[in-house]
Amino acid sequence: MRLGTAISEQGCRRCPLWVGTQVVSGKGPVPSEWMFVGEAPGREEDRVGMPLVGASGRLFDKLLKEAKIDRGAVFVTNVVKHRPPENRKPKISEIKACAEWLKIEIRAVKPKTLVTLGKVAAEAIVRLTGRVEKVSMEMEHGQGRKRVVEGEEVWHVCMYHPAAVFRQPELWPVLVMDFQKLQAVGTGGVGEYRLVEEEELEGMWRVAWISS
Ligand code: URA
Repeated sequence: MRLGTAISEQGCRRCPLWVGTQVVSGKGPVPSEWMFVGEAPGREEDRVGMPLVGASGRLFDKLLKEAKIDRGAVFVTNVVKHRPPENRKPKISEIKACAEWLKIEIRAVKPKTLVTLGKVAAEAIVRLTGRVEKVSMEMEHGQGRKRVVEGEEVWHVCMYHPAAVFRQPELWPVLVMDFQKLQAVGTGGVGEYRLVEEEELEGMWRVAWISS
C-alpha cells in the first residue's frame, strides 16, 4: 500500500500550510512494528519529500543505530505533513486538520510501539486517544505507556525531539539512553529495567540495562 502517494495525490488543502510546500507523508514499511512520529517537515524534508532527512534526521539516524533499529524497518512520519513557515511550531488548528492523515497512517501501519519525538507529537498522540493533556517531557521521556490509538493497543514512548540537542546538548546522552531502552518496551516495561553500566566512549554514552 502506497500511503504517501495516497496523501500526495489527494493534494491536501485542509489547512493553509500547503501553499508553496509539498506533502511530506510518512515513509516506511506498512505494516510495521515501529512507528516514529516527528513534528513537521523542515526545509530539507520539504525539498526532498521525505520525513526526518535534514539535520534532525541525521541525529535520529544515529539514535536508531544506538537502539539497534534499522531505519528501513520502521515507519517514520510527522504530525503535520506540510512545512510550517520558518519551521515554526504547527498551530493546533493545523495539527487538528492533519490528524486524519496521521490516523490513516496509524491504522495502516498498526505499530506495536509508537515513538513520539518531542512534545508536539506526544500531545498529538494523546489527543488521538480522546484526551486533551499536556505532556511533561521531563517526567515522561523514555517511558513506555499503553494507550489505545485508533482502536489498537500500542506502547507509546515519548522521546525528546532530537533537534532539542541543538539548544541543549546535555540532552544527547538522555536521548541515547532512552533509545537504547526502546527494545525493552513491552517486554516487561521500561520502568522495570535499571541501568547497570554506563561509560563514555568517544563522546557517546553507552548503557546496559537488565531487568531488575
Ligand atoms: N524534520 C522532520 O521531518 N520532522 C521533524 O520533527 C523535524 C524535522
